[in-house]
Order: sequence, then C-alpha cells, then structure tokens
Amino acid sequence: MKKQIIVAPSLLSADKNHIVDEIAKAGEAGAKFLHIDIMDGVFVPNTSFTFDFVANVLTIPSPMVYDVHIMVSNPRVLGPKYAKAGADVVTFHYEACFSDLERRSVIAAIRRAGAKVGMSIKPATPVALLLPFVEDLDLVLVMSVEPGKGGQPFLDEALGKIASLRDFIDHSSPNGPKCLIEVDGGINEETGRLAAKAGADVLVAGSYLFGHDDFAQRVKGLLSI
Ligand code: DX5
Ligand code: ZN
Repeated sequence: MKKQIIVAPSLLSADKNHIVDEIAKAGEAGAKFLHIDIMDGVFVPNTSFTFDFVANVLTIPSPMVYDVHIMVSNPRVLGPKYAKAGADVVTFHYEACFSDLERRSVIAAIRRAGAKVGMSIKPATPVALLLPFVEDLDLVLVMSVEPGKGGQPFLDEALGKIASLRDFIDHSSPNGPKCLIEVDGGINEETGRLAAKAGADVLVAGSYLFGHDDFAQRVKGLLSI
C-alpha cells in the first residue's frame, strides 16, 4: 500500500495578521502538522516569531500536530520552554550543541517537558552524525536549504541523506516505533515527489503553499504524492 505523506505547512510564510484563519485553512486542507520556525538571530541570521506569539499560537485548539523547529543556539533552554508552552514536537539542531552528551541532555530535557523530540541537520552536516541518535528520537529533520529563511531552492543533496535515514530506520528496528523523516526547504510538488520517493514521511512547505489562492489544491497535490 502506498504510504500517506504528511504535509506540514510552514507558518513562516503565513499572513501573521490573520494567523487563526491561516491555521484553520491548513487543517481544513488536510495538513496533519503545522510547522513553526523559531529563529534567534544567532544560530541563523534572521529572527522569526517572538516566544509570546508562538505560545499564543500553541493555545489555538487544532487537531494538527504543532511541530516546532528551533533554529537557536541554546536548545537546552528553549527546547523545554516551547515544549511546556504546548508544542507537540520540538526539533533542535545537531549543530547547536558542542557534544553528544549535550545533545542527549537536550533530548531528555525536551521529553521531560512533555513533547516529542526531533533533531535536524543543516545541508553541510553529514547524515552519519545523526544515526546514533535515531533510536531516541521521534523525528529527524533533513534541511534541504540553508536554515534561516523561506523561499530558497531545494538542494538535491538532501535526497541521499533521506534515503540513508530511510534505510537505517527501516532496518535498525523494523518492529519498533518508527522515527519520522521530515524534509524542510524548497518543497513543491516536484521536489516533494523526489523527497517522498527517497523515503521522507513529512514534507514541510512554506512559500509554495501560503499566499496562493489555490492553497487547498496545493496541499492536496502534496498529499497525493
Ligand atoms: C527555513 C525554515 C523553513 C521554511 C521553509 O529555515 O526552516 O521551515 O519555512 O520555507 P520554504 O518552503 O519556502 O522553503
Ligand atoms: Zn523549518
């Protein structure tokens, strides 16, 4: 049976002045995840939403999974903070930590704060570095653009990383709970198809979805990949 792709519209490209409507629109179109990018201006050059804004968003009742991607230099502090504010999944960056000990402590802290945990790698980070953590994670996020802004073109190198993770996850614990593979950056119907074929479970899409009249059609297109 064909695997059902999960679509995660990225709030970064949504209309901030109509955020409740934008979120409702995503859920009604069939998105199962809502992707929320946190940028601190240090780990990445830009900033995105304030903590208070996101904390408010996380109180909006929705059947969607609130998927918070923290591009920040201090995930040990901010990861649990977003988890406590109501994030369902908090994904931090491998590169934001100095040691594997620190990475393990961030995973444990986010989990203790009540959220599922994801770890992400930037385009230049080898996928092999992520593998030792997979069994302790609910999600791995492969960046297919340099993190920091929406609207960039998809980097094909992400496909090999997705395929390696798919192979590793399917063969390391075939009967156990599965870690989801998410891909973020430059996703449209064409790149989404390539990522799904390589083994991605969750497609994040920002500028391809929000701001277009045929938003719902576009989500449906991604869902039927
Ligand atoms: C990039 C963010 C993405 C961004 C994707 O740093 O992590 O989630 O919203 O935007 P698009 O889909 O426009 O590449
Ligand atoms: Zn993101």
